[in-house]
Order: sequence, then C-alpha cells, then structure tokens
Amino acid sequence: MKKKVKVSAPGKLMLFGEHAVVYGYPCIVTAVDQRIEVTVETVDKDILEINAPDVGFGAYVKRLNSLSKGENVPKEVVFVETAVRNFLEQYPVKTGFRITTKSQFSSQFGFGSSSAVTVGVIATLNSLFGKQLNKKQIFDMCYKTVLDVQGVGSGFDLAAAIWGGTLYFVGGGKRIIPIRMSRRLPFIVGYTGIKADTPTLVRQVGELYKSNRRVIGKIFDATNLLVDEAKKDLNSGDMERLGELMNINQGLLDALGVSSQELDSLISAAREKGAYGAKLSGAGGGDCMIAICATSKKSLVESAINTAGGTVLRVETNAQGMQIENES
Ligand code: PMV
Repeated sequence: MKKKVKVSAPGKLMLFGEHAVVYGYPCIVTAVDQRIEVTVETVDKDILEINAPDVGFGAYVKRLNSLSKGENVPKEVVFVETAVRNFLEQYPVKTGFRITTKSQFSSQFGFGSSSAVTVGVIATLNSLFGKQLNKKQIFDMCYKTVLDVQGVGSGFDLAAAIWGGTLYFVGGGKRIIPIRMSRRLPFIVGYTGIKADTPTLVRQVGELYKSNRRVIGKIFDATNLLVDEAKKDLNSGDMERLGELMNINQGLLDALGVSSQELDSLISAAREKGAYGAKLSGAGGGDCMIAICATSKKSLVESAINTAGGTVLRVETNAQGMQIENES
C-alpha cells in the first residue's frame, strides 16, 4: 500500500448563472490557476491529524471512531474531517493518517478553498487506498460532504476543482460538460475586501423565491437562456458579446438582491473605463467581481478597480483540474 499521496486542486470563478444553479439550472464555472495542495500520509495510530497552517490550524487530532459530520468541529477543519468521515463510511480502512493542506490563495477571496480542499482529501484517500473512484464518484462523495457541512449549494465549485477547464454545469452535477474555448479569455478579477457568507445569501434568495415564485422563476429562466448564449460565445471567444451577457447577468443578480455597494462600485468603475461587461462572481455580498475588456483597455480598467477600492487579483482561467503531484 502507498504511504503518502499529494494532490493539488484548483480554485474557481463563477462566470455565469450563480444562484439559479442552486435550483437545477445551468451555470458556467472556470478553474483558476491558484491551487490548494492536500497531502495525506498514513500513521500507526488510530487517529486523524489535520495540519492547516494557512488558516492558522496546526495538529488538530481526532480519534477515527469519533469523527463527526460538521457538528462541533472548528470551521477551519470541518470540510477535511467530514470528507474523511464520508470516505471511511464507504471504505473502512485499518490505519490512521495525517493530512496537511497548503493554499496558494487566501480563503477570503471566494475562490472555493473549501471545495478544493474537499476534493483534495477525497482524491488523496482514493489514491492512497487504491479505490479507483472515477471523477463522478469523487464528485458525489465531495458533494455529500458539502451538503453535510453547509446544507446548501449546487456543487459547481467541486466540479471545477475535479474536472478543471471551463464547465457548463447543471445544479447537483446532473450535467457536467467541458466548454472548449478557442482561446484563454482575459478576465479581470477585482476583490472587494469583504468576505461573502454564501449559505446566508443562498438562503436569502431562497426566501425571495418562496414568496415570489413566478417572478423569480422568470429570472432563473432568463439566466438559463443567458447561460446557453454564453456557452456559445465562450466557444467562439466573442468578448463583446460575453461582456453584454455579463452585464445582463449582473442586472438579474441585482434583482435577486445579492449585489452590494462595494461590488457595484467596482463594476461601474470597470464599465466606465471601457470594459465590455462586468458582474459579481459567486454568491454576491462581497468576494469578487469579474470584468472583460480589450487588451488595450486592461491596465485602465485594472487601475479603475483599484481606485474604486478593490484589489485586482492576477489569475488565469481555464486551469487544469485536480492532479496527483506525487505518491510514495
Ligand atoms: O460564493 P461562491 O463563490 O461559493 O458561489 C456561490 C454560488 C451560488 O450559486 C450562489 C451557490 C452555489 O452553490 O451554486
């Protein structure tokens, strides 16, 4: 049996269709070139040890027979512990292990650090114990983990971490289709400096949907059409069209009540300096916005975002999915 496996998995950016995807509609997500590494090594004791120095957590130890599914577990390690428990429930093993995580990006950005870590844990255990789970099986176990921990979510971020590239994704993983891009698109990413609380925003939209079913249903239908259009334009690399669709999507997200003053001012700043389009990315309320513009306008748009109080994050999209880095 192997003794040590290291897997890396990418973060993500939502391009189109957030929130509607929670209700079984499609969205488009792209993997970014900022990764999280998860290393698992076997130990001779009956324990799970977690070291997550990036989030200030060292040597958290639990006996294997007392792992929980999110209850009373510190938030810094809850996805790791729950993922391990879900794996062991299906595949009991007779060894303990030490898990170490290392991130290239801050968990504050909304790049999906929890989902990338969850994928990293299941993928390392899969390889360590020779279980041969395929990507969809890894997705299903990770998705169960996310639902155990936070109760809501479409799983789009897990798909980006597993498959990588740019995906057309239908809520819950009903369809996961890679989008072939004719070229890497120059998205600009602006961070608001505010951490969004995704489960709260998802629940807030849920309440709005409950009390305005027909109206909000139409917003989701419009989002669906927009995602289908965007899929074609990503394919052909038509940036002007994509920008237009981003602006429409932002209007729909605003109608759902999830934009914020900070997001709005970064989005307006980007548009004023000539971006083809800009929108929030993810749950809203904070985290990041994205913009697309001609190369000639890039530095103008970037400095406008900085002047408006944001921070431009340099990331490439369409990055590679999870990968085994080494095993011994
Ligand atoms: O906040 P993020 O970046 O995790 O994005 C959330 C996207 C939602 O559609 C609102 C929720 C989901 O799980 O799809």
